[in-house]
Amino acid sequence: MNCRVVTLISGRGSNLQSLLDATLNGLLPIEHVGVLSNRPNAAGLERAARAGVTTGVVDHRQFNHRADFEAVLRARIDALQPDLVLLAGFMRILGAEFVQHYHGRMLNIHPSLLPAYRGLNTHQRALDDGVDEHGVSVHFVTAELDGGPIIAQARVPVLDGDNAEQLAARVLAQEHRLYPFVVDRFAQQCLHLDTQDRIHLDDQVLSAPLCFDQVPWP
Ligand code: GRF
Repeated sequence: MNCRVVTLISGRGSNLQSLLDATLNGLLPIEHVGVLSNRPNAAGLERAARAGVTTGVVDHRQFNHRADFEAVLRARIDALQPDLVLLAGFMRILGAEFVQHYHGRMLNIHPSLLPAYRGLNTHQRALDDGVDEHGVSVHFVTAELDGGPIIAQARVPVLDGDNAEQLAARVLAQEHRLYPFVVDRFAQQCLHLDTQDRIHLDDQVLSAPLCFDQVPWP
């Protein structure tokens, strides 16, 4: 049976689109059982609806306390009975209890070579530091913001004269390959996190994240 996936978004949804496309093209053995957004006007909701995927909104502004928002979000996710929950541009910080509930079955994609540049504005911060290499990471989600065990990364060179938009676009192209690659490993049951937060990939314990110049996808 295909891996049941719920994706959480807040905006554009281009990573969601790359996953939808890969599924539609028969490359990714997953079933998109739902896309949930904390923002009613997230463009990604339309992408999901176009692909015939159930959508829902849990608007964080309707809640006075984060715990109440998370309780409703969790109930909505769990009603869809996912095997895997993907954060794809989901812009709310999630509490420890919520995250623990999805231990080993929630992934995030972050536009930097973690542990460098956790948080926001990663591209501008990389440029400001004058680094010559930037990139993207996919990791299991733990209570530490952008701090969970890293599965895989793709490096992207910083070019002379890059501005943040140009660099972001080059990173995004790699995001659209790295997330399907990792989700595929999970869906094929070749990737899991143990109770001690060690990553098992293809029957080996990962001692360091996979790091690609060229993501082997598709
Ligand atoms: C991506 O850069 C992702 O890495 C980050 O937020 C952005 C979301 O973009 N977490 P999109 O909504 O998938 O287009």
